[in-house]
Amino acid sequence: MKIQPVKSLNGIICLPGDKSISHRAAILASMAEGETRIENFGTSADCASTLDCLAKLGVRIKREDSTVLIKGVGKNGLTKPVSELDCGNSGTTMRLLAGVLAGQDFESVLVGDASLSKRPMRRVIEPLALMGAKIESDGGSAPLKIYGKNLLKSISYAMPVASAQVKSCVLLAGLNAEGKSRVQSPKSEIRITTSRNHTELMLKFLGGEIEESFFESDDGFVHEISIDGNSNLTARNLNVPSDISSAAFFIVAAACLENSEIVIENVGLNPTRIAIIEVLRQFGASIEALNHKETCNELIGDLRVWRSKSFTPKALSNKIEGEVIANLIDEIPILAIFGTQLENGLEIRGAGELRVKESDRIAAVVENLRRMNANVEEFDDGFRVGKSRLKGARIDSFEDHRIVMAFAVAALLAEGETEIDGAECAAVSFPGFFQVLQKVLR
Ligand code: S3P
Repeated sequence: MKIQPVKSLNGIICLPGDKSISHRAAILASMAEGETRIENFGTSADCASTLDCLAKLGVRIKREDSTVLIKGVGKNGLTKPVSELDCGNSGTTMRLLAGVLAGQDFESVLVGDASLSKRPMRRVIEPLALMGAKIESDGGSAPLKIYGKNLLKSISYAMPVASAQVKSCVLLAGLNAEGKSRVQSPKSEIRITTSRNHTELMLKFLGGEIEESFFESDDGFVHEISIDGNSNLTARNLNVPSDISSAAFFIVAAACLENSEIVIENVGLNPTRIAIIEVLRQFGASIEALNHKETCNELIGDLRVWRSKSFTPKALSNKIEGEVIANLIDEIPILAIFGTQLENGLEIRGAGELRVKESDRIAAVVENLRRMNANVEEFDDGFRVGKSRLKGARIDSFEDHRIVMAFAVAALLAEGETEIDGAECAAVSFPGFFQVLQKVLR
Protein backbone atom coordinates (compact mmCIF):
# COMPACT_ATOMS: atom_id res chain seq x y z
CA MET A 1 0.00 0.00 0.00
CA LYS A 2 1.49 3.34 -1.09
CA ILE A 3 0.25 6.49 0.60
CA GLN A 4 0.91 10.14 -0.27
CA PRO A 5 0.54 13.08 2.12
CA VAL A 6 -2.75 15.00 1.86
CA LYS A 7 -4.00 18.49 2.74
CA SER A 8 -7.19 17.66 4.64
CA LEU A 9 -9.99 15.21 5.42
CA ASN A 10 -13.61 16.15 4.70
CA GLY A 11 -16.91 14.34 4.62
CA ILE A 12 -19.47 12.27 6.47
CA ILE A 13 -18.61 8.63 7.14
CA CYS A 14 -20.23 5.57 8.61
CA LEU A 15 -17.96 2.85 10.01
CA PRO A 16 -18.48 -0.89 10.63
CA GLY A 17 -19.97 -2.23 13.85
CA ASP A 18 -17.88 -2.32 17.01
CA LYS A 19 -15.68 -5.40 17.15
CA SER A 20 -15.94 -5.94 20.92
CA ILE A 21 -19.72 -5.56 20.96
CA SER A 22 -20.17 -7.77 17.87
CA HIS A 23 -18.29 -10.68 19.49
CA ARG A 24 -20.49 -10.41 22.57
CA ALA A 25 -23.67 -10.07 20.51
CA ALA A 26 -22.90 -13.29 18.63
CA ILE A 27 -21.92 -15.24 21.75
CA LEU A 28 -24.79 -14.08 23.96
CA ALA A 29 -27.39 -14.47 21.20
CA SER A 30 -26.17 -18.07 20.80
CA MET A 31 -26.56 -18.71 24.54
CA ALA A 32 -29.98 -17.05 24.71
CA GLU A 33 -33.36 -18.65 24.22
CA GLY A 34 -35.03 -17.48 21.02
CA GLU A 35 -33.99 -15.79 17.80
CA THR A 36 -31.87 -12.65 17.55
CA ARG A 37 -31.40 -10.25 14.67
CA ILE A 38 -28.14 -8.36 14.98
CA GLU A 39 -27.85 -5.16 12.91
CA ASN A 40 -24.52 -3.54 11.98
CA PHE A 41 -22.56 -6.63 13.03
CA GLY A 42 -18.81 -5.95 12.63
CA THR A 43 -17.39 -6.84 9.22
CA SER A 44 -13.99 -7.65 10.72
CA ALA A 45 -12.22 -10.97 10.17
CA ASP A 46 -12.11 -11.35 13.98
CA CYS A 47 -15.91 -11.23 14.28
CA ALA A 48 -16.22 -13.73 11.43
CA SER A 49 -13.97 -16.09 13.45
CA THR A 50 -16.41 -15.90 16.36
CA LEU A 51 -19.38 -16.70 14.09
CA ASP A 52 -17.49 -19.67 12.56
CA CYS A 53 -16.69 -21.11 15.99
CA LEU A 54 -20.30 -20.72 17.16
CA ALA A 55 -21.55 -22.44 13.99
CA LYS A 56 -19.20 -25.36 14.76
CA LEU A 57 -20.76 -25.50 18.21
CA GLY A 58 -24.15 -26.23 16.64
CA VAL A 59 -25.62 -22.71 16.47
CA ARG A 60 -27.68 -21.87 13.35
CA ILE A 61 -26.44 -18.58 11.96
CA LYS A 62 -27.48 -16.71 8.81
CA ARG A 63 -25.53 -13.70 7.67
CA GLU A 64 -26.32 -11.10 5.03
CA ASP A 65 -23.65 -8.40 4.99
CA SER A 66 -23.87 -6.73 8.37
CA THR A 67 -27.15 -8.36 9.44
CA VAL A 68 -26.80 -11.61 11.35
CA LEU A 69 -29.64 -13.91 12.41
CA ILE A 70 -28.91 -16.31 15.26
CA LYS A 71 -31.07 -19.10 16.57
CA GLY A 72 -30.12 -19.31 20.24
CA VAL A 73 -29.63 -22.72 21.85
CA GLY A 74 -29.76 -21.64 25.50
CA LYS A 75 -26.82 -21.52 27.87
CA ASN A 76 -26.37 -25.33 27.94
CA GLY A 77 -27.39 -26.12 24.38
CA LEU A 78 -24.08 -25.96 22.50
CA THR A 79 -22.90 -29.25 21.00
CA LYS A 80 -19.47 -30.88 20.85
CA PRO A 81 -17.65 -29.63 17.74
CA VAL A 82 -16.33 -32.22 15.28
CA SER A 83 -13.14 -30.26 14.70
CA GLU A 84 -10.94 -27.64 16.31
CA LEU A 85 -12.38 -24.14 16.79
CA ASP A 86 -10.24 -21.69 14.87
CA CYS A 87 -10.11 -18.24 16.48
CA GLY A 88 -7.80 -16.86 13.77
CA ASN A 89 -6.09 -13.69 15.03
CA SER A 90 -8.77 -12.93 17.61
CA GLY A 91 -7.82 -12.90 21.30
CA THR A 92 -11.37 -11.87 22.23
CA THR A 93 -12.81 -14.93 20.46
CA MET A 94 -10.45 -17.28 22.25
CA ARG A 95 -10.70 -15.80 25.75
CA LEU A 96 -14.47 -15.33 25.72
CA LEU A 97 -15.19 -18.73 24.19
CA ALA A 98 -12.89 -20.37 26.76
CA GLY A 99 -15.32 -19.08 29.40
CA VAL A 100 -18.33 -20.36 27.51
CA LEU A 101 -16.78 -23.80 26.83
CA ALA A 102 -15.63 -24.29 30.42
CA GLY A 103 -19.31 -24.54 31.33
CA GLN A 104 -20.34 -27.04 28.62
CA ASP A 105 -20.30 -30.75 29.22
CA PHE A 106 -17.91 -31.72 26.39
CA GLU A 107 -14.34 -31.38 25.20
CA SER A 108 -13.25 -28.80 22.67
CA VAL A 109 -10.03 -27.33 21.32
CA LEU A 110 -9.44 -23.63 20.62
CA VAL A 111 -6.66 -22.81 18.15
CA GLY A 112 -5.38 -19.58 16.62
CA ASP A 113 -2.93 -18.17 14.07
CA ALA A 114 0.80 -17.73 14.77
CA SER A 115 0.30 -14.41 16.62
CA LEU A 116 -2.61 -15.63 18.76
CA SER A 117 -0.70 -18.84 19.59
CA LYS A 118 1.98 -16.73 21.29
CA ARG A 119 -0.40 -14.65 23.42
CA PRO A 120 -0.86 -15.29 27.16
CA MET A 121 -3.80 -17.54 28.02
CA ARG A 122 -2.90 -18.31 31.67
CA ARG A 123 -4.93 -15.26 32.58
CA VAL A 124 -8.10 -17.20 31.60
CA ILE A 125 -6.89 -20.74 32.37
CA GLU A 126 -6.29 -19.83 36.02
CA PRO A 127 -9.79 -18.60 36.94
CA LEU A 128 -11.47 -21.32 34.85
CA ALA A 129 -9.43 -24.01 36.63
CA LEU A 130 -10.54 -22.53 39.95
CA MET A 131 -14.12 -22.92 38.71
CA GLY A 132 -13.52 -26.62 38.06
CA ALA A 133 -12.75 -26.78 34.33
CA LYS A 134 -9.68 -28.67 33.18
CA ILE A 135 -7.68 -26.90 30.49
CA GLU A 136 -4.54 -28.11 28.73
CA SER A 137 -2.39 -25.56 26.93
CA ASP A 138 0.98 -25.26 25.28
CA GLY A 139 2.89 -23.66 28.16
CA GLY A 140 0.11 -21.19 28.86
CA SER A 141 -0.70 -20.44 25.21
CA ALA A 142 -3.03 -21.88 22.54
CA PRO A 143 -4.02 -24.50 21.53
CA LEU A 144 -6.34 -24.77 24.52
CA LYS A 145 -7.99 -28.11 25.12
CA ILE A 146 -10.99 -27.53 27.34
CA TYR A 147 -12.66 -30.28 29.33
CA GLY A 148 -15.86 -28.48 30.30
CA LYS A 149 -18.35 -29.26 33.05
CA ASN A 150 -21.96 -28.22 32.99
CA LEU A 151 -22.02 -27.03 36.54
CA LEU A 152 -18.95 -25.05 37.53
CA LYS A 153 -18.05 -23.76 41.00
CA SER A 154 -18.57 -20.06 41.53
CA ILE A 155 -15.50 -18.01 42.43
CA SER A 156 -14.55 -14.58 43.63
CA TYR A 157 -11.63 -13.69 41.40
CA ALA A 158 -9.29 -10.71 41.71
CA MET A 159 -7.83 -10.07 38.25
CA PRO A 160 -4.10 -9.37 38.23
CA VAL A 161 -4.50 -7.20 35.08
CA ALA A 162 -7.35 -4.88 34.10
CA SER A 163 -8.68 -6.97 31.23
CA ALA A 164 -12.17 -6.95 29.75
CA GLN A 165 -11.45 -10.30 28.14
CA VAL A 166 -10.61 -11.97 31.44
CA LYS A 167 -13.59 -10.35 33.19
CA SER A 168 -15.90 -11.47 30.36
CA CYS A 169 -14.47 -14.98 30.38
CA VAL A 170 -15.28 -15.38 34.10
CA LEU A 171 -18.77 -13.86 33.68
CA LEU A 172 -19.58 -16.19 30.77
CA ALA A 173 -18.39 -19.22 32.75
CA GLY A 174 -20.39 -17.86 35.69
CA LEU A 175 -23.59 -18.31 33.65
CA ASN A 176 -23.06 -22.04 34.16
CA ALA A 177 -21.80 -21.96 37.75
CA GLU A 178 -23.53 -22.65 41.03
CA GLY A 179 -24.38 -19.39 42.83
CA LYS A 180 -22.80 -16.02 42.26
CA SER A 181 -19.45 -15.59 40.54
CA ARG A 182 -17.57 -12.37 41.19
CA VAL A 183 -14.71 -10.72 39.41
CA GLN A 184 -12.72 -7.77 40.74
CA SER A 185 -10.55 -5.34 38.85
CA PRO A 186 -7.10 -4.39 40.15
CA LYS A 187 -7.12 -1.50 42.64
CA SER A 188 -7.30 1.96 41.12
CA GLU A 189 -6.75 5.40 42.60
CA ILE A 190 -10.01 6.75 41.23
CA ARG A 191 -13.53 5.31 41.06
CA ILE A 192 -13.47 4.10 37.46
CA THR A 193 -14.56 1.03 35.50
CA THR A 194 -11.07 0.07 34.39
CA SER A 195 -11.97 -2.08 31.40
CA ARG A 196 -14.71 -2.01 28.77
CA ASN A 197 -18.06 -3.16 30.18
CA HIS A 198 -19.93 -4.38 27.08
CA THR A 199 -20.35 -7.92 28.42
CA GLU A 200 -22.08 -6.84 31.59
CA LEU A 201 -24.29 -4.32 29.75
CA MET A 202 -25.43 -6.89 27.20
CA LEU A 203 -25.90 -9.66 29.79
CA LYS A 204 -28.17 -7.26 31.70
CA PHE A 205 -30.06 -6.33 28.51
CA LEU A 206 -30.82 -10.01 27.89
CA GLY A 207 -31.98 -10.68 31.44
CA GLY A 208 -28.76 -11.78 33.15
CA GLU A 209 -28.63 -11.12 36.88
CA ILE A 210 -25.63 -8.83 37.05
CA GLU A 211 -24.56 -6.63 39.94
CA GLU A 212 -21.90 -3.96 40.02
CA SER A 213 -20.17 -2.54 43.12
CA PHE A 214 -17.21 -0.38 44.08
CA PHE A 215 -15.29 -1.10 47.28
CA GLU A 216 -13.19 1.64 48.79
CA SER A 217 -10.13 1.04 50.95
CA ASP A 218 -7.28 3.26 52.17
CA ASP A 219 -5.29 2.77 49.00
CA GLY A 220 -7.98 2.90 46.32
CA PHE A 221 -11.09 1.49 44.72
CA VAL A 222 -11.91 -2.01 43.56
CA HIS A 223 -14.61 -2.52 40.97
CA GLU A 224 -16.57 -5.78 41.17
CA ILE A 225 -19.06 -7.40 38.81
CA SER A 226 -21.05 -10.47 39.77
CA ILE A 227 -23.32 -12.80 37.86
CA ASP A 228 -25.85 -15.22 39.24
CA GLY A 229 -25.53 -18.71 37.76
CA ASN A 230 -29.31 -19.00 37.81
CA SER A 231 -29.54 -16.37 35.08
CA ASN A 232 -31.14 -17.33 31.79
CA LEU A 233 -30.83 -15.16 28.71
CA THR A 234 -33.79 -14.24 26.53
CA ALA A 235 -33.17 -13.27 22.91
CA ARG A 236 -33.71 -9.59 22.00
CA ASN A 237 -32.72 -7.87 18.78
CA LEU A 238 -29.36 -6.15 18.98
CA ASN A 239 -27.96 -3.11 17.22
CA VAL A 240 -24.20 -2.66 17.18
CA PRO A 241 -22.80 0.91 17.28
CA SER A 242 -19.93 1.84 14.96
CA ASP A 243 -16.50 1.10 16.35
CA ILE A 244 -14.87 4.00 18.19
CA SER A 245 -11.50 2.25 17.93
CA SER A 246 -11.82 2.37 14.12
CA ALA A 247 -13.11 5.95 14.31
CA ALA A 248 -9.96 6.92 16.23
CA PHE A 249 -7.82 6.79 13.07
CA PHE A 250 -10.07 9.28 11.28
CA ILE A 251 -10.43 11.46 14.38
CA VAL A 252 -6.67 11.86 14.74
CA ALA A 253 -6.17 12.50 11.01
CA ALA A 254 -8.89 15.19 10.96
CA ALA A 255 -7.63 16.74 14.19
CA CYS A 256 -4.13 17.10 12.72
CA LEU A 257 -4.72 18.17 9.11
CA GLU A 258 -5.57 21.83 8.45
CA ASN A 259 -9.04 22.67 7.09
CA SER A 260 -10.35 19.21 7.96
CA GLU A 261 -13.88 18.54 9.08
CA ILE A 262 -15.47 15.12 9.32
CA VAL A 263 -18.61 13.67 10.85
CA ILE A 264 -18.64 10.01 11.91
CA GLU A 265 -22.17 8.73 12.42
CA ASN A 266 -23.56 6.42 15.10
CA VAL A 267 -20.33 5.80 16.97
CA GLY A 268 -20.37 3.85 20.23
CA LEU A 269 -19.74 6.33 23.06
CA ASN A 270 -19.71 3.93 26.00
CA PRO A 271 -17.91 5.76 28.85
CA THR A 272 -15.33 2.93 29.12
CA ARG A 273 -14.31 3.52 25.47
CA ILE A 274 -14.21 7.31 25.06
CA ALA A 275 -10.93 7.93 26.87
CA ILE A 276 -9.38 8.54 23.43
CA ILE A 277 -11.76 11.48 22.85
CA GLU A 278 -11.12 12.88 26.30
CA VAL A 279 -7.34 12.66 25.88
CA LEU A 280 -7.35 14.20 22.40
CA ARG A 281 -9.51 17.07 23.70
CA GLN A 282 -7.14 17.64 26.62
CA PHE A 283 -4.41 18.18 24.04
CA GLY A 284 -6.48 20.71 22.14
CA ALA A 285 -8.29 18.63 19.49
CA SER A 286 -11.77 19.86 18.50
CA ILE A 287 -14.28 17.04 18.84
CA GLU A 288 -18.00 17.40 19.41
CA ALA A 289 -20.48 14.60 20.15
CA LEU A 290 -24.00 15.13 18.76
CA ASN A 291 -27.33 13.30 18.65
CA HIS A 292 -26.80 11.12 21.70
CA LYS A 293 -29.04 8.07 22.00
CA GLU A 294 -29.05 4.73 23.75
CA THR A 295 -29.42 1.36 22.11
CA CYS A 296 -29.26 -2.03 23.86
CA ASN A 297 -27.77 -0.35 26.97
CA GLU A 298 -24.99 1.26 24.91
CA LEU A 299 -24.58 5.01 24.28
CA ILE A 300 -24.27 6.17 20.67
CA GLY A 301 -23.73 9.54 18.99
CA ASP A 302 -22.27 11.31 15.97
CA LEU A 303 -18.78 12.74 16.26
CA ARG A 304 -17.76 15.96 14.52
CA VAL A 305 -14.03 16.55 14.37
CA TRP A 306 -12.27 19.53 12.91
CA ARG A 307 -8.77 20.95 12.90
CA SER A 308 -8.32 23.75 15.40
CA LYS A 309 -5.92 26.59 14.52
CA SER A 310 -3.35 25.16 16.91
CA PHE A 311 -3.22 22.58 19.64
CA THR A 312 -3.48 24.43 22.92
CA PRO A 313 -3.08 21.69 25.48
CA LYS A 314 -5.31 21.88 28.51
CA ALA A 315 -3.54 18.82 29.88
CA LEU A 316 -1.28 19.41 32.86
CA SER A 317 1.37 17.04 31.61
CA ASN A 318 2.29 15.26 28.41
CA LYS A 319 2.52 11.95 30.22
CA ILE A 320 -0.39 9.50 30.11
CA GLU A 321 -0.34 6.69 32.66
CA GLY A 322 -2.42 5.06 35.37
CA GLU A 323 -5.94 3.70 35.22
CA VAL A 324 -6.86 5.49 31.99
CA ILE A 325 -4.45 3.25 30.05
CA ALA A 326 -6.74 0.16 30.09
CA ASN A 327 -9.57 2.22 28.57
CA LEU A 328 -7.24 3.58 25.88
CA ILE A 329 -5.26 0.45 25.18
CA ASP A 330 -6.28 -0.14 21.53
CA GLU A 331 -5.88 3.55 20.66
CA ILE A 332 -2.29 3.94 21.86
CA PRO A 333 -0.69 3.30 18.42
CA ILE A 334 -2.72 6.14 16.86
CA LEU A 335 -2.13 8.32 19.92
CA ALA A 336 1.60 7.93 19.28
CA ILE A 337 1.08 9.46 15.83
CA PHE A 338 -0.89 12.33 17.40
CA GLY A 339 2.03 12.81 19.84
CA THR A 340 4.38 13.61 16.93
CA GLN A 341 2.27 16.74 16.26
CA LEU A 342 2.28 18.07 19.84
CA GLU A 343 4.65 20.86 20.84
CA ASN A 344 5.89 18.88 23.87
CA GLY A 345 5.39 15.41 22.41
CA LEU A 346 3.73 12.63 24.38
CA GLU A 347 4.82 9.97 26.87
CA ILE A 348 2.87 6.78 27.53
CA ARG A 349 3.72 4.71 30.65
CA GLY A 350 2.12 1.76 32.45
CA ALA A 351 1.13 0.21 29.13
CA GLY A 352 3.14 -3.05 29.28
CA GLU A 353 0.00 -4.90 28.10
CA LEU A 354 0.74 -3.50 24.63
CA ARG A 355 3.60 -5.98 24.39
CA VAL A 356 1.15 -8.92 24.35
CA LYS A 357 -1.39 -7.65 21.83
CA GLU A 358 -1.61 -8.82 18.18
CA SER A 359 2.04 -7.70 17.98
CA ASP A 360 4.42 -6.16 20.49
CA ARG A 361 2.83 -2.77 19.89
CA ILE A 362 5.47 -0.83 21.83
CA ALA A 363 8.26 -2.25 19.64
CA ALA A 364 6.17 -1.87 16.46
CA VAL A 365 5.29 1.79 17.14
CA VAL A 366 8.86 2.70 18.12
CA GLU A 367 10.45 0.96 15.12
CA ASN A 368 8.06 2.47 12.57
CA LEU A 369 8.19 5.96 14.10
CA ARG A 370 11.99 5.83 13.88
CA ARG A 371 11.74 4.84 10.24
CA MET A 372 9.61 7.98 9.72
CA ASN A 373 12.27 10.21 11.28
CA ALA A 374 10.49 10.69 14.63
CA ASN A 375 12.34 11.30 17.81
CA VAL A 376 11.24 8.40 20.04
CA GLU A 377 12.43 6.58 23.15
CA GLU A 378 11.31 3.07 24.16
CA PHE A 379 10.54 1.93 27.71
CA ASP A 380 9.50 -1.49 29.01
CA ASP A 381 6.00 -0.15 29.66
CA GLY A 382 5.63 2.53 27.01
CA PHE A 383 7.45 5.17 24.96
CA ARG A 384 8.07 8.87 24.60
CA VAL A 385 7.72 10.63 21.26
CA GLY A 386 8.80 14.21 20.63
CA LYS A 387 7.30 16.69 18.15
CA SER A 388 8.60 15.40 14.83
CA ARG A 389 8.58 16.20 11.12
CA LEU A 390 7.53 12.83 9.81
CA LYS A 391 9.12 11.62 6.58
CA GLY A 392 7.64 9.01 4.25
CA ALA A 393 9.24 5.59 4.76
CA ARG A 394 8.74 1.87 4.33
CA ILE A 395 6.59 0.61 7.20
CA ASP A 396 6.42 -2.90 8.64
CA SER A 397 2.86 -3.96 9.55
CA PHE A 398 4.13 -6.47 12.14
CA GLU A 399 1.00 -8.24 10.85
CA ASP A 400 -1.04 -6.06 13.19
CA HIS A 401 -4.17 -4.24 11.96
CA ARG A 402 -3.88 -1.28 14.32
CA ILE A 403 -0.23 -0.70 13.40
CA VAL A 404 -1.19 -0.58 9.70
CA MET A 405 -4.02 1.94 10.24
CA ALA A 406 -2.03 4.13 12.65
CA PHE A 407 0.86 4.39 10.17
CA ALA A 408 -1.52 5.02 7.27
CA VAL A 409 -2.53 8.16 9.20
CA ALA A 410 1.14 8.98 9.89
CA ALA A 411 1.72 8.73 6.13
CA LEU A 412 -0.95 11.41 5.49
CA LEU A 413 0.94 13.80 7.79
CA ALA A 414 4.43 13.03 6.44
CA GLU A 415 6.60 14.50 3.70
CA GLY A 416 6.91 12.17 0.71
CA GLU A 417 5.51 8.73 -0.01
CA THR A 418 5.05 5.94 2.55
CA GLU A 419 4.79 2.28 1.70
CA ILE A 420 3.18 -0.14 4.16
CA ASP A 421 4.07 -3.80 3.78
CA GLY A 422 1.30 -6.24 4.67
CA ALA A 423 -1.39 -3.52 4.79
CA GLU A 424 -4.13 -6.09 4.00
CA CYS A 425 -4.17 -7.15 7.66
CA ALA A 426 -6.24 -4.00 8.41
CA ALA A 427 -9.13 -6.36 7.59
CA VAL A 428 -8.67 -8.05 10.97
CA SER A 429 -10.75 -5.20 12.41
CA PHE A 430 -11.69 -2.98 9.45
CA PRO A 431 -11.84 -4.50 5.94
CA GLY A 432 -12.89 -1.28 4.13
CA PHE A 433 -10.44 1.03 5.91
CA PHE A 434 -8.49 2.20 2.85
CA GLN A 435 -11.65 2.71 0.75
CA VAL A 436 -13.31 4.84 3.45
CA LEU A 437 -10.09 6.80 3.90
CA GLN A 438 -9.86 7.40 0.15
CA LYS A 439 -13.38 8.90 0.18
CA VAL A 440 -12.52 11.63 2.69
CA LEU A 441 -9.02 12.60 1.47
CA ARG A 442 -8.82 16.07 -0.10
C1 S3P B 1 -11.17 -6.42 24.15
C2 S3P B 1 -10.46 -6.08 25.26
C3 S3P B 1 -9.10 -5.52 25.24
C4 S3P B 1 -8.73 -5.02 23.85
C5 S3P B 1 -9.14 -5.96 22.76
C6 S3P B 1 -10.64 -6.21 22.80
C7 S3P B 1 -12.52 -6.98 24.31
O1 S3P B 1 -8.18 -6.53 25.62
O2 S3P B 1 -7.34 -4.77 23.75
O3 S3P B 1 -8.80 -5.42 21.49
O4 S3P B 1 -13.29 -7.00 23.34
O5 S3P B 1 -12.82 -7.43 25.43
P1 S3P B 1 -7.91 -6.86 27.19
O6 S3P B 1 -9.20 -7.04 27.82
O7 S3P B 1 -7.13 -8.11 27.22
O8 S3P B 1 -7.12 -5.70 27.68
